[in-house]
Amino acid sequence: MSHNKLIVILVGLPARGKSFISKKLNRYSTWVGYNSKVFNVGNYRREFFKNTFNDNKFFDSNNSEAKNLRDKFAMDVLEELIKWMNTITGNVVSIFDATNTTKLRRSMLIKRLSKENIDIMFVESICDKKNIIEKNLEMKLTNDDYVQMPASVALDDFKKRISHYKRVYQTIDDDEDNSYIKIINVQKSFHVFKINSALKLELCNFLMNLNINSGKIYLSRHGESMDNVNGTIGGNSVLSRMGKQYSLKLFTHIHNDDNDINTIYTSTLKRTIETSKPFSKKYNIINKKFLDEINAGICDGMTYDQIKIIYPDISKDRKKDKLNYRYPYGESYTDIIERLKYFILDLERTEECTMIITHTAVLRCLLGYFLDIPLKDIAYIDVPLHRIIKLESVANHYEKTEINLLKKKEIN
Ligand code: F6P
Repeated sequence: MSHNKLIVILVGLPARGKSFISKKLNRYSTWVGYNSKVFNVGNYRREFFKNTFNDNKFFDSNNSEAKNLRDKFAMDVLEELIKWMNTITGNVVSIFDATNTTKLRRSMLIKRLSKENIDIMFVESICDKKNIIEKNLEMKLTNDDYVQMPASVALDDFKKRISHYKRVYQTIDDDEDNSYIKIINVQKSFHVFKINSALKLELCNFLMNLNINSGKIYLSRHGESMDNVNGTIGGNSVLSRMGKQYSLKLFTHIHNDDNDINTIYTSTLKRTIETSKPFSKKYNIINKKFLDEINAGICDGMTYDQIKIIYPDISKDRKKDKLNYRYPYGESYTDIIERLKYFILDLERTEECTMIITHTAVLRCLLGYFLDIPLKDIAYIDVPLHRIIKLESVANHYEKTEINLLKKKEIN
């Protein structure tokens, strides 16, 4: 049976990073072009109880009334998920975020899913490292279950909740005969079983690069180029006088204020390499083709006005669907995402601080991923020249700071 629909089912004790994994996986699958959505059973429970607090006793499996309710919530959310998957056409990834820590619970899910044409992969997060659990606990104590509760009371209750789950926890085993990846102590060790499709393999590859301490990322376009001065797209021109001034400003800024960078990436085009020149003595600089600007094919070297006159259909078609429109003999934004996929894995994995000097379209694709911007909006993100953007990983998302380094009046 061939599938274009995959459900990823999380497994793990509370505070083992399931929601972190779900959100990251959702962001990645959306960015690479899948219709993707997270279904969170905890949120459903909180809504059901109108946010009145469920203390740890609710999670004790000897409390049969509560256990039945918890199973019901899981099945209700699964129904919602199936309904959603069946209304969406094309490639779909849904992520079922709950503990699913017993074989019985997993078999209930599988039984229901066997009636649907949906492929299944389990992702189990196992963690016994105190520092990782504590980081997760910290995040949990600010979540919706514990709003406005003193931290020590919340922590005590949450630890009791974990021990209720521990008593009945059964790790996934091969006899269950479903595809799975076990992530053991984030990035340290993995166990994979029956990864039997390209999509599962791609998602496993992503999961194997996840890190809870991803390094900071600085992003910048090259300094103004001669092609920018002339208003032409593509090309391989050198920097203008203003562009050279920006490269020095960028170096001074990094040197004085943000000097924790380990590696600088540029494209293979002259304008980014020249922008990185002041850094060459002190930093490790790597030039990568996957960071080159969008290939404008037969329009390379033209102004937008010239394209409108010479190739009116290109102008019109690109306006209709800028994300997917591929220039004849050139590329589309989705082609750029395709060539950036492996770089994203590197950036997710590394704890070191990285700077990337690249071009408008490439920056838009990177920002789209890190800032969770809907695919349809990516090709329109505003990325002016002469600004440095800093991205810092905070819990499940990235925070952005932007500094304009070269104001018009400073240019000499
Ligand atoms: O104009 C500078 C530039 O980097 C061009 O080389 C490139 O074709 C363009 O920006 C990308 O922007 P858009 O996709 O909006 O045309």
